[in-house]
Amino acid sequence: MTNIEVKTRVKQYQIKIMIDSLHHLGTLVTKVWCARQVAVVTDTNVGPYYAKLVTDELTAAGFKVRVMTVPAGEASKSWSQVQSLIDQLSAAHFSRSDGVIALGGGVVGDLAGFVASIYMRGIALIQVPTSLLAQVDSSVGGKTAIDLPTGKNLVGSFYQPDLVVIDPAILVTLPPRMLAEGYGEIVKCAALVGGDFWQSLQQITSVAAILPAAPDLIAASVAFKARVVMADEHEQGQRQLLNFGHTIGHAVELLADGQLMHGEAVAIGLVQVCRLFAAHGLAPQAVAAVMQHDKKVHGTALTWVYLSAVGQPHLYPIAVTDLATWMGDLWSVS
Ligand SMILES: NC(=O)c1ccc[n+]([C@@H]2O[C@H](COP(=O)([O-])OP(=O)(O)OC[C@H]3O[C@@H](n4cnc5c(N)ncnc54)[C@H](O)[C@@H]3O)[C@@H](O)[C@H]2O)c1
Repeated sequence: MTNIEVKTRVKQYQIKIMIDSLHHLGTLVTKVWCARQVAVVTDTNVGPYYAKLVTDELTAAGFKVRVMTVPAGEASKSWSQVQSLIDQLSAAHFSRSDGVIALGGGVVGDLAGFVASIYMRGIALIQVPTSLLAQVDSSVGGKTAIDLPTGKNLVGSFYQPDLVVIDPAILVTLPPRMLAEGYGEIVKCAALVGGDFWQSLQQITSVAAILPAAPDLIAASVAFKARVVMADEHEQGQRQLLNFGHTIGHAVELLADGQLMHGEAVAIGLVQVCRLFAAHGLAPQAVAAVMQHDKKVHGTALTWVYLSAVGQPHLYPIAVTDLATWMGDLWSVS
């Protein structure tokens, strides 16, 4: 088992990474929670595989469990699902001493985390991420969110869990496209860290090769992300490095209009930002226009992340008014 300790201003907790940790979930949860009611929030894909195991584990450990299932997919990060979950918690008389367990990918993690952060001004939360993206990214750092019709992740909170339990074995049921998507996030972390982590990716030459290497790759990614989050909990400084590839990625994702998954768009963003800074040099005007509305615009500038070499990331603010010119040769250098 790899244990990664996260210390934030408000909370100290552990991220436990272990094959088959789901089979020990009851024991792991009793280390941080006393007996209580637990809402296991999951989705219509993940629930049929793992909700029974999780319920049995928690029940055997003395918890009273209710499974709350939302439809799989990004559309569940909505006010209507927030309302539905809060109504279910309230109807079941959940109090501030009860808890929520998010069992699913980034959608469930973001939604359940947000609900936990606002129900009764905040009840205890444990993240059990089930997609590779959620295991290496969304479950670490305490960001929760839902989407608005005007954009993704526009409502949310910073809310740290009491525990994160990562079981790489459950990735076997994850569709290959989603495995590849999460791997893009690992490549991002490795490019930012460099060294042995970057070298270890050289053995991954197919999607099938991701699974056996997943425990080590997840541990390295999470350790890096936790380090960055601890240094900058609210994304004021170094945490912006984690946005490597996201500036262009978000614009590509919006313009793809649902045809690309988040991680795929970010992977394209990673490649293109490296090209951009390498060539410094006409991106479709649409991309620059979309980027002007990115949440990461601070004042009049958009902060980019680039690498001078693998393992050597830098922040680079570019005035919003200069974006179109800056991106000039981006797509023409490929
Ligand atoms: N909070 C953060 O810091 C943060 C960071 C990155 C991404 N996100 C958010 O995460 C979301 C994307 O996460 P995602 O890619 O996990 O999406 P997702 O939650 O929609 O999961 C992807 C798909 O895989 C299915 N799935 C998940 N685990 C499975 C398993 N083990 N077996 C079978 N099917 C499984 C899900 O049901 C879904 O259909 C986006 O909403 C994004 O905004 C949040």
